[in-house]
Amino acid sequence: SDLSSFQQANEAVSFLESRLPEGLQNPRVAIVCGSGLGGLADTIHAQPRAEYDYASIPHFPRPTVAGHAGKLVFGLLGHKIPAVLMVGRTHYYEGHSIDRVTFPIRVFKQLGVDTVVLTNAAGGLNAEYSVGDIVHIFLAGLAGVHPLRGPNAEEFGVRFPPLSDAYDLDLRRQVHQAWKAVIPTGSTRRLHEGVYAFVGGPTYETRAESRMLRLLGADVVGMSTVPEIVVARHCGVRVLAFSLVTNNAVLSPVPRGDEDIFQNKAAGELSAILEEGKAGHEEVLEAGRTAALDMQTLVVQTLVNVFES
Ligand code: 6GU
Repeated sequence: SDLSSFQQANEAVSFLESRLPEGLQNPRVAIVCGSGLGGLADTIHAQPRAEYDYASIPHFPRPTVAGHAGKLVFGLLGHKIPAVLMVGRTHYYEGHSIDRVTFPIRVFKQLGVDTVVLTNAAGGLNAEYSVGDIVHIFLAGLAGVHPLRGPNAEEFGVRFPPLSDAYDLDLRRQVHQAWKAVIPTGSTRRLHEGVYAFVGGPTYETRAESRMLRLLGADVVGMSTVPEIVVARHCGVRVLAFSLVTNNAVLSPVPRGDEDIFQNKAAGELSAILEEGKAGHEEVLEAGRTAALDMQTLVVQTLVNVFES
């Protein structure tokens, strides 16, 4: 399209504003739901509520991955916080250019949103993290391809935006407060703050790549969220991000080809090493299903504390 990102965002906003019911036209917060975290939309009250398929919204990118539906859900979070939820997101690996992936963030900005909460499923690199742990991200990884590359969209922000304060400190404090209030009694689930490394995907990491990312200081790895954070910060939107650790990335090396384990044909032992922790999409979705409820509760409680007090 020859339209600027600003013009495209405004067309999407016109479309939505002409259809949104009373009370939902000015959402204060946007929540991007990651793999298996679409249940967040169930916490939105039935009335008033409005849903729009991405396919119907001008210029909106459409997801192609199974398990990622594509719709915007508008409604009230808690009892009175007007919110917009992205159920299903598009990823860079689907073939969209990186600035298409982040387009919805600019639509949220033009709708009047001042806070975005991003959620995702991620692979654990830090051995201290368990499957099902909730990670609250505070540092972005470096990506080779940048959503702000090209002429700067002056309507949204400056040419060289700082990211040293990308994750809002007050919101992070509120997450820890909320966690103390909502953690189910007897639960072993833990809340960490850590470093999320963004990779393009769609392959999961080799063992060597996982060791490299760990060596660089990453605690979790995933294929989303960071481009959106960059674009949100560019236009001055407050950011909070959560990763649900759905599997542990495999860091241990496979035995070398000349090692005894091969010669002795310890087939069971060998296949156990090769199968251990192998990342697979089904496993990612399943762990998301079981831990997602605690994550949802945490996100909602945090926002209720932030906006209703
Ligand atoms: Cl292990 N790697 C990446 N890149 N993304 C993931 C993941 C792993 N687990 C969930 N998402």
